[in-house]
Amino acid sequence: MAIATTLFDLTGRTILITGASRGIGFAMAKACAEHGARVVLNGRDPATLAEKVDALAAAGHAAEGEAFDVTDEAATIAALDRIVARHGALHGAIANAGVQHRVPVLDFPTADFRRVVETNLTACFVLGREAAKRMAATGGGAIINTVSMLGPIARPTVPAYIAAKEGLRALTRAMAVELGAKGIRVNAIAPGYVATEMNTALIENEPFNAWVIGRTPMGRWAQPEELGGAAVFLMSPAGAFVSGHILSVDGAMSVAV
Ligand SMILES: NC(=O)c1ccc[n+]([C@@H]2O[C@H](COP(=O)([O-])OP(=O)(O)OC[C@H]3O[C@@H](n4cnc5c(N)ncnc54)[C@H](OP(=O)(O)O)[C@@H]3O)[C@@H](O)[C@H]2O)c1
Repeated sequence: MAIATTLFDLTGRTILITGASRGIGFAMAKACAEHGARVVLNGRDPATLAEKVDALAAAGHAAEGEAFDVTDEAATIAALDRIVARHGALHGAIANAGVQHRVPVLDFPTADFRRVVETNLTACFVLGREAAKRMAATGGGAIINTVSMLGPIARPTVPAYIAAKEGLRALTRAMAVELGAKGIRVNAIAPGYVATEMNTALIENEPFNAWVIGRTPMGRWAQPEELGGAAVFLMSPAGAFVSGHILSVDGAMSVAV
């Protein structure tokens, strides 16, 4: 694809995207690759990851995989070290891997609360801290956290998810103010309802599906590909002075009454 200006050009940048073996993460990786980045896709299953890396490579993009569990701190650090050893620097990191667990709050098991917070918040802290150390040593970079429309607003049965995502918004701001002086920008993308595997049960639940469509001013679910542009913007020269920002991509759902 021809790019008219260098505003959104990611040529020469190496970007790690966690949770990129499907859904929003893969769409963000594909969009960054289409704008010239070398993308490193992450997920836990090496076989699924290899398929997605092969698909990008077959389309002529620079793509590779790093399979690890984001809740494994040592594995995360080892992967970052391998990326920097291979390519000299890490320019971008997208902390996107996330899990959902739906149970009414009075029945919500503590172990599941911890697991959701560990994946959706603590792992993003570890990735952000370790990525930022390496970026600081090579002149800066950009970090994006995938948060959610949920957090500032809530709905029943997802208390751990909402708590973790709201925490990740706060962490985004905390890291942005501390890392700006090192040339590192930290932002978040807040999707609304996106038609991915995470939401298969909701899409198949006709009353819920009708509620999403009726409640979203744009009248539909987002497609994963519609999150790619936000990632490219925040990674690219177009976003060079954007930091500490939470970018909603939700068809205006979060501002509708
Ligand atoms: N879909 C939505 O409507 C929506 C809305 C707001 C925010 N979000 C957020 O957007 C992000 C992506 O969601 P999605 O809908 O694309 O989800 P998805 O289709 O379920 O994909 C999740 C991805 O994360 C990976 N993953 C999960 N746990 C992991 C772990 N411990 N370590 C490494 N990788 C892990 C999965 O691969 P493996 O299972 O193979 O590891 C997969 O690649 C999440 O943070 C989610 O909370 C989604």
